[in-house]
Amino acid sequence: MNHSQPPELKPRHATPRNPDRETDGALVARFSTLLGKPLIPWQRQVIDVISEIDPATGTYWYDELVLTVQRQAGKTTITKSYDVRNALWGPDRKTWYLAQTGKDANDQFRDFVKSWRKSRLRRLSKEPRMSNGSMSLEFRNGSELRPGGATEAAGHGVQGDLINVDEVWSLSKQQAKNLKDGFIPTTTTRLKLTGVRPQIWWTSTEGNGNSEYFNDRLDRLRAGDIPKRTAFFDFGIPFDADPEDLETIWAYHPGAGHLFDFNQLAEFRQQFDDDAEGWARAFGNIRDDGVTERAIDSILWADTTGQPVKPSRGLKLCFGVGVTMGAGKTIVAACIARGDRPPIVQIVKELDGTGQAPQFLRELQAVYRAPICIDRRGPSAALADVLASTIDPATYEPAYRLTDLRAADAITAPQSLVSALEQHAVEHAPDRLLDEQVCTAAKRKSGDAWLWNRNAGDVHAMEAMTMAYWGYMHLPAFDVDDIQVF
Ligand SMILES: Nc1ncnc2c1ncn2[C@@H]1O[C@H](COP(=O)(O)OP(=O)(O)OP(=O)(O)O)[C@@H](O)[C@H]1O
Ligand SMILES: [Mg+2]
Repeated sequence: MNHSQPPELKPRHATPRNPDRETDGALVARFSTLLGKPLIPWQRQVIDVISEIDPATGTYWYDELVLTVQRQAGKTTITKSYDVRNALWGPDRKTWYLAQTGKDANDQFRDFVKSWRKSRLRRLSKEPRMSNGSMSLEFRNGSELRPGGATEAAGHGVQGDLINVDEVWSLSKQQAKNLKDGFIPTTTTRLKLTGVRPQIWWTSTEGNGNSEYFNDRLDRLRAGDIPKRTAFFDFGIPFDADPEDLETIWAYHPGAGHLFDFNQLAEFRQQFDDDAEGWARAFGNIRDDGVTERAIDSILWADTTGQPVKPSRGLKLCFGVGVTMGAGKTIVAACIARGDRPPIVQIVKELDGTGQAPQFLRELQAVYRAPICIDRRGPSAALADVLASTIDPATYEPAYRLTDLRAADAITAPQSLVSALEQHAVEHAPDRLLDEQVCTAAKRKSGDAWLWNRNAGDVHAMEAMTMAYWGYMHLPAFDVDDIQVF
């Protein structure tokens, strides 16, 4: 196959463009370009269809979009330019971007605000509000764009003219129902009042056995149960294709040739290591039907919450590092001795990407003289390689003290952590990110052992915690670096 050109788009299903209707898509494409992300062909195709205008009413034809596509294909990106277009359609409009958690949504919002501030469009809005809990972009016409957590929003319901529900795979049926029940009844009045048909977007990669709402919805849509005003797009490899065949992945991934080239595919595959289901889901958009039960139940988690400590030099401690798939975030955790109490694991910091991590870890190491534990395989592999190969120019010694974690250790480390929690041999400090991740953190089998399943959501905080604890338990009996020579 020719890899020098992007492959032709081959969606599993795509609501066709109806040429009898005009589309507002070109304007969305323009906003996307102004925000620094000119739409790639699949994005434009979806935008052109969902932006079709009903000639009878002059407003949107569709009231719903269901979009499932591989990870990192650019689905969240299109919601942003569409939100802007939608907010500018008239005065006092309300658009919502809902991600799995409030934190995810806020992260996306911050990202969006960065490109907003750089673009000429910024003059159309007031200064963005960035305080947690009430983030928003208010336009000069009175319209508003806000981020929110789908789970939280499902509790009280949100109303508006456009609701993007992203990462739909994480919703239960009840949560999706609550979202719809809050939104749908208000749409008739909004349409009358504003003249613009409200829309709800459901966007997501395929989930796993727990994705109650999305699985059922996709199954019905695929069986042909597609409501008249629903646009449905389904990208992914054919269900019977072999996800290990990179040619197949290339041929069916709508980001191929636009967001990555063929040579990068083999590297992406390696990052997934022995997580074949995770790979099939992320790059093939194939549902993972594996076991998804959480590995640490809520009672054990609550029982092992402990008081954080302020670390100081000389205290026995070890740092652990976790990186998200795609290397978008890095977390540093620490496992710290507490005298009579069992050691405690706490999150030190979450960093954007991996680029700032070496410097941050250097500083931590300089202050606390503690080693760093990091998995040499999986998403943290590239960062681990940087740490392992950096030489201190002053001493010609390795610049980082890394614990000697072998591949065989890495696959027993998660179980050691869980056993230690069960025996109350370690505790964890209260932390929003850990508390969130523990709810979905599940096991995936690796030989006779198990690893954190990166496929059902981010687990980088759990991984950082696991590494910190393993490193702590394998600290040398005394620390050569701490012996002062006079
Ligand atoms: N049209 C585009 N032009 C340039 N870069 C793009 C475009 N669309 C997306 N990207 C980039 O590709 C990456 C993935 O995009 P995005 O986060 O929207 O994907 P996603 O499908 O939501 O991914 P995930 O499943 O991980 O949430 C981001 O770095 C984004 O900036
Ligand atoms: Mg996304």
